[in-house]
Amino acid sequence: MGQSGKSWEKRLSGETDELAIDFVESLSYDKRLYKYDIAGSIAHAQMLCDQKMITKAEFAEIKNGLFEISEEIASGKFKFDKAQEDIHMAIEAALIKKIGDAGKKLHTGRSRNDQVATDARLWMRDEIELLRTRITLLQKALVKLATKYTNSPMPAYTHLQRAQPIVIAGYLLSFVEQFQRDHIRLGNCSDLLNVSPLGSGAVAGSTIPLDRESTARQLGFKGIMRNSMDGVSDRDFCAEFIFDCSLIATHLSRLAEDFIIYSSSEFSFVTIDDKYCTSSSMMPQKRNPDMLELIRGKTGSVYGSLVAMLTILKGTPSTYNRDMQEDKIHVFNAADTVSASVDMAAAIVSNMKFNTKHIAAGLDEGFLDATALAEYLVKKGVPFREAHGVVGGLVAGCEDKNCKLGDVPLKEFQAACRVIEDDVYDSLGAGNVTRQYLSAGAVGPEQAAEEVIYWKEQLKKR
Ligand code: ARG
Repeated sequence: MGQSGKSWEKRLSGETDELAIDFVESLSYDKRLYKYDIAGSIAHAQMLCDQKMITKAEFAEIKNGLFEISEEIASGKFKFDKAQEDIHMAIEAALIKKIGDAGKKLHTGRSRNDQVATDARLWMRDEIELLRTRITLLQKALVKLATKYTNSPMPAYTHLQRAQPIVIAGYLLSFVEQFQRDHIRLGNCSDLLNVSPLGSGAVAGSTIPLDRESTARQLGFKGIMRNSMDGVSDRDFCAEFIFDCSLIATHLSRLAEDFIIYSSSEFSFVTIDDKYCTSSSMMPQKRNPDMLELIRGKTGSVYGSLVAMLTILKGTPSTYNRDMQEDKIHVFNAADTVSASVDMAAAIVSNMKFNTKHIAAGLDEGFLDATALAEYLVKKGVPFREAHGVVGGLVAGCEDKNCKLGDVPLKEFQAACRVIEDDVYDSLGAGNVTRQYLSAGAVGPEQAAEEVIYWKEQLKKR
């Protein structure tokens, strides 16, 4: 064999162009799959041995050689040569160099096509567990923060206009719910991808009696992919994983957007710890929430990876095509970007505080209690549509007089609607309203306290 030591040197004439070597290589980024590549190779070799395709002695040589290579890579001693194209060829070439002939038998009944598909699934299975742990830590941070604010009212917004009063804890728990779905979605993704393509070969399987159930079992897959053509070409799991990452990024981005707005002087609802702010090189007074802005900004890169992944797949003919090598760039980008953002968000949440006094002082603005007043009338027998009109009129009157609903004298209330009695004042004001919420899922202090307990229990189980 010539310089690159590739088995196809007899088929192709001359050396690969230097430009092409750089263009085709994936070693620079797929080397992070090395552990999975080695695990897959050991399982494959064990199976070849059980099937009497290699001897026990050859298997032992292969296994020990691969272990050594694994240690060399882990310790940084391994010399990567981009002429080897990818991690699969790099490891195989090193093995052959190390143990000679036995190493040349490892690739029996196998192709890089089923090999890379196997590696990617194994990698993703682990990555998903790591990401789920990160999400759990973020959820725990949100719940911990919520614990402090089960009794602290704040305005809830729709259309970014003041809507109804809620308690801060319930607001924070609304994000815990979003991340819970992300956690579940990743679990589903992991379940679906957890089948083995190994033994699919290049596309059609093999004339060698491969025991695919055995390699699947050894690698912890729950079964085998039933069709070798699908086995080598399916990248649904990549698209799905990046989609799941995209939704996590979406949820993080919305959280970041809220906190950016809430930390502005105009709102002053929250204080982001100085550790997570930067200043301006020109304006000395500035305290900028750059980490949150970057969480929001990095969402673009994750979405970009999703579109890239889907686009890579859409035009490829059946089955494996080299286009698919690009999958890893986007899968890794989505995983790395989202992991960093989840960790950053968890750190910010763990160190932020709500300015409850300032929030409370502003709760009289914006008629947050108007809906509760309409419901007070409903409870006194007024049809809701009528009640809505009555309160609308009262709000307009208050706006003219620059006062709040709680300032309206009983006489005026009764002039607007006969059924109003002096208990009306118990239904006015943000604090009163939040305490009166009755329906399941409502965001009052009682519900929030219960939900905090619920989430603590749920998250403790993980
Ligand atoms: N580096 C390749 C990839 O990531 C491995 C598979 C290459 N297969 C092939 N027949 N050229 O997709």
